[in-house]
Amino acid sequence: MGGAAAASTISLTPMRRNLVDRLSFVCPVCSWSGSEPVPLSLSVDREVAGEVVSGAFRCGNCPRRYPILDGVAVLDPEPLRSAYDEPDSLQSYLWTHYADLSHEPLDDPPPPAGDYFARLAEQPLGGLVLDLGSSVGRLAFEVSARADFVLGVERSFEAAKRAREIGRTRRVAFHLRDEGNRGRYVDFDASRLVRGNVEFVCGDAAALPLAPGVAGGILAANLVDRLRDPDHFLSRADAVLRPGGRFVLTAPFSWRPDVTETGRWLGDSVRSAREALLDWFAEHGYAVEEQAELDLTIRNHRRFFELLRPLLLRARKSV
Ligand SMILES: C[S@@+](CC[C@H](N)C(=O)[O-])C[C@H]1O[C@@H](n2cnc3c(N)ncnc32)[C@H](O)[C@@H]1O
Repeated sequence: MGGAAAASTISLTPMRRNLVDRLSFVCPVCSWSGSEPVPLSLSVDREVAGEVVSGAFRCGNCPRRYPILDGVAVLDPEPLRSAYDEPDSLQSYLWTHYADLSHEPLDDPPPPAGDYFARLAEQPLGGLVLDLGSSVGRLAFEVSARADFVLGVERSFEAAKRAREIGRTRRVAFHLRDEGNRGRYVDFDASRLVRGNVEFVCGDAAALPLAPGVAGGILAANLVDRLRDPDHFLSRADAVLRPGGRFVLTAPFSWRPDVTETGRWLGDSVRSAREALLDWFAEHGYAVEEQAELDLTIRNHRRFFELLRPLLLRARKSV
């Protein structure tokens, strides 16, 4: 993870120590291989006004050390740098997540806006909510209105860092690409969205640094078709969700063989991914509460927008 390793220790987005203590992270390797979760202990190299800028979490069982870089805890046992760390992807997701908050439209004419974020904001997710694959953070901030606390777990270090920056500054500032190398800086207020009960870490949704049954709700938006092994991910998510908790999953099922081998795609030539997920929920004791088709626009540049139509499923785990 070159970006993280090169990061400076002078941080604008330090991890808040009170939130770290409250989350009780466990080793994402030992806790899934043994019978008991193994707590991580925090050592601080630099702390400013109660916020940890740099330091590490250490496992009580194995020699692993999970660094805090630029205020972002890297709790991924195998950190990778991916296309989601690249500036072009970041500006695209920053637009997708936040363009509607800008006081003046960022595009002329503005593209049609779906109700994607509003539909997710109204999901009844309570307690400790995990936003898995949280990218630059919009959904975590949206669901934080109903939750006690939201933890975004995102594999891209750069995206997690951006999400934390928005949480700290309550502003969205980035270079928006218009075409080719042309673009402009945009900077607007996000304070109506940002609350203090949200934290983001760099981690793997399939190796969560959390003990079984701690989460009251799980959100996995457009993640399942970006994973090496979706079925394995579902069983890990199920393990951290408490009985009675809700699992909200959205996906356009836009599979890529270079990411997910075709044999691991949910569904097949006979059964759709939706049917495969409904079967998975039934087999694991969940009652499906909502099924909906959503619209989501991704902006590549000012003349290239992609419309996704993710399926939303919400299911409640039996008590
Ligand atoms: C298609 S984007 C969706 C982002 C956001 N949830 C949304 O709906 O706008 C997928 C995100 O999942 C992240 N991701 C991919 N694999 C992951 C994993 N194993 N654990 C956590 N995040 C992952 C990517 O870095 C990327 O930010």
